[in-house]
Amino acid sequence: MRKIIAAGNWKMSMTSEKINKFSEEFKKQKLSDKVEIVLCPSFVYLTATQEAFKGSDFKIGAQNAHYELEGAYTGEVSVSMLEELNMDYCIIGHSERRQYFNETDETVNFKIKSLLANSKIIPILCVGESLDEREENKQSDVVTMQITRAFSDLNKSDIYADGESKVVIAYEPIWAIGTGKTATSDQADEMCGVIRKTIARLYDEEIANEISILYGGSVNPANIRELMSKDNIDGSLVGGASLDAGKFAQIVNGSER
Ligand code: PGA
Repeated sequence: MRKIIAAGNWKMSMTSEKINKFSEEFKKQKLSDKVEIVLCPSFVYLTATQEAFKGSDFKIGAQNAHYELEGAYTGEVSVSMLEELNMDYCIIGHSERRQYFNETDETVNFKIKSLLANSKIIPILCVGESLDEREENKQSDVVTMQITRAFSDLNKSDIYADGESKVVIAYEPIWAIGTGKTATSDQADEMCGVIRKTIARLYDEEIANEISILYGGSVNPANIRELMSKDNIDGSLVGGASLDAGKFAQIVNGSER
């Protein structure tokens, strides 16, 4: 059974005051226990978020990591630092990082390898095509290439143990992020299927059947149920709508199958 996940990517948006307010409101909601809830604040507020949700079983994730464990990398945060903070997840290769911070398929691969080798943190690997690539019908090729490069030099035993995948993938078409323009559930399902097939080709059916593949890009309470009705979609990575406790709770509950 694949894990169903609702992950909130708070980007550079929440401060302590907002996190505390969110936590108060979110804890009042009746939430599905069939959906794993992941909250990804900025580095600065990882501990504050853990504190705000102490006693709950929500998972906490970072939004990036440096693959080196220590060294002269001003402004960076290492995998070992995140491990020390007991992070559960770490988003890797978000399109905003690829677009604005020179993240490449190669650095994405280094980061995933470092997380798997040096921590118990589960990478949430983000892939997705641009609008131009979609208009040229290149989305499958682009995403297949991103996945293939992200998993380069990783064996089955690196990414899979005790019947569970140690990696989560998020399909996030760039044209759907923060634009209010969601991929249709069929488009999202098709691309999550392409990713699943790529994993089967790189590894085997066992991992392909077990790995959770999320959709991200303008997910909201109104479209989550339709997205989750699709076989290949195992949850969502949510930006804007995850900043509102009420909306995010509806997304969590709408993710149940
Ligand atoms: P959005 O962001 O839900 O605001 O479109 C999704 C993401 O960037 O992960």
